[in-house]
Amino acid sequence: MPNLKKVKMTTLAMLVMTPMISMADMDRCVSCHGVDFEKKALGVSKIVKNMSEQEIKAALDGYKNGLGGPMKDLMIKEVNLGVDTDAMSADIYSESRTPGFDEPSDEFIFQKRLSIRTLHKLKNNIKKADAKKDMKKIVSQIKSAAFTMYVYDDLLKEKINFKTMKPSDKKLDMNAILKEVSSVKSCVDHSFIDTEIVKCRVDFLDLAGSLARNEEKKIKAKQKANKPPIYTGTDSVDMTPYLK
Ligand code: HEC
Repeated sequence: MPNLKKVKMTTLAMLVMTPMISMADMDRCVSCHGVDFEKKALGVSKIVKNMSEQEIKAALDGYKNGLGGPMKDLMIKEVNLGVDTDAMSADIYSESRTPGFDEPSDEFIFQKRLSIRTLHKLKNNIKKADAKKDMKKIVSQIKSAAFTMYVYDDLLKEKINFKTMKPSDKKLDMNAILKEVSSVKSCVDHSFIDTEIVKCRVDFLDLAGSLARNEEKKIKAKQKANKPPIYTGTDSVDMTPYLK
């Protein structure tokens, strides 16, 4: 029997596969930069291994905006393959500090890619959203993203219990949501093994769970307010024993 999970994964993989520089694509870079980014690429670049993550990100953002050194055109092409420079700089930084060329499994890379892509889009949508009018839309996007993460991550399933999720005490307005999603995104950017990434996803599911519970609370309150009172007039059945 074919491995159904694998078949499903591959179909999904093809659907979401936009080129993105992640660890899987680091082999594109090493021929010029060295296995641990320890070389001056083509004798021109800085030694990336000596750069901080912020400096790497600044260089990538530069290329994205058409700025850089004499051979910038080479790198503009590389950077434009990526979804975002946050994830890319985190990957490069980690790779340059990890001796050798150990790559995570294809499955991990696929999972990480999927999350980064989803969270990146979500962040952009939240930034563009109207704080009041678009709240419902954003909440529903978060819920469906959380569901997708949940379905494809067995480790996550062990750590999440929907029944015990509570409405959040914090006020989750659009700004607070953006902050939470950004922090989850940064957490995923900096995860390189299953046990790291699952922690970020737990945070994201907590956010989605709180938002869902908040919605539930509102709906219940509304239902309660709209319910006509139980008839207690002449000939009414005494309901009190049943309502306890
Ligand atoms: C064909 C060779 C080549 C390949 C392949 C290549 N680079 Fe570069 N890279 C360069 C050169 C040359 C520069 C300096 C460009 C300039 O003039 O700004 C550079 C610059 C950089 C910088 C900024 C360093 C600085 O000098 O400010 C980073 C970060 C970087 N590359 C990362 C990568 C990553 C990640 C990949 C793979 C996805 C990659 N490069 C692929 C040649 C290459």
